Amino acid sequence: MRVPLLDLNEQYRTLAEPIHEAIHAVLASHRFILGPQVKAFEKAICAYCKAPHAIGVSSGTDALLAVLMAFGVGPGDAVITTPYTFFATAGCIARTGARPLFVDIDPITYNICPSAIQECFEKNCQRDSNGEWKTRSGERVRAIVPVHLFGLCCEMDAIHRVSEHYRLDVIEDAAQAIGAEYPFGKRAAKAGTMGEAGCFSFYPSKNLGAAGDAGMIICRDEKLQFLR
Ligand SMILES: Cc1ncc(COP(=O)(O)O)c(C=O)c1O
Repeated sequence: MRVPLLDLNEQYRTLAEPIHEAIHAVLASHRFILGPQVKAFEKAICAYCKAPHAIGVSSGTDALLAVLMAFGVGPGDAVITTPYTFFATAGCIARTGARPLFVDIDPITYNICPSAIQECFEKNCQRDSNGEWKTRSGERVRAIVPVHLFGLCCEMDAIHRVSEHYRLDVIEDAAQAIGAEYPFGKRAAKAGTMGEAGCFSFYPSKNLGAAGDAGMIICRDEKLQFLR
């Protein structure tokens, strides 16, 4: 028996009518790039995730790359992330010119292990005279990119404590986790809202799949709204 890697047939059959109507509305409006449908989707994601701002982009990869660039990550920097993820996570860090600093995963959750991040600082990093944390090879440690793999949120409270201590930005790779929740402080926080920014992918096989590539950034800082 042939088992397809991905079978969207059933999902498409049940939603075919509203999908055709939505496609027809876009074609009739001639607003093929951004436009009111993207605005409405950004607004809906803000409301659903309780995020102040949302920015529609062309893929989860572009969401990660744009956020890293917006935070000024580049050559001479290191960004902590997990080796157990889709290649775009580390790939986007490398594309900015920074180095991915891999930290091991938790053997139960398969997500990045917060105590291993702490250990990485203790073993491999030191504080310079300006108070900045540097790797042994001299790169400035700028951010953590935790990945909420398979819809399961990382231990964000513990990651937040580490990021506060070492003054790092947290950019959540929530490509696989839109709608996932985590008890963060006093709230049940949606994936993508516990750091400075969160990145979603709407690749067809994702929890919320588009008919093609699509992605979104959610963020707290209103300046990031002007990314595009
Ligand atoms: C964890 C993770 N990060 C990033 C991406 C990249 O998203 P996209 O395929 O929309 O570029 C994916 C997609 O597979 C992913 O699973």
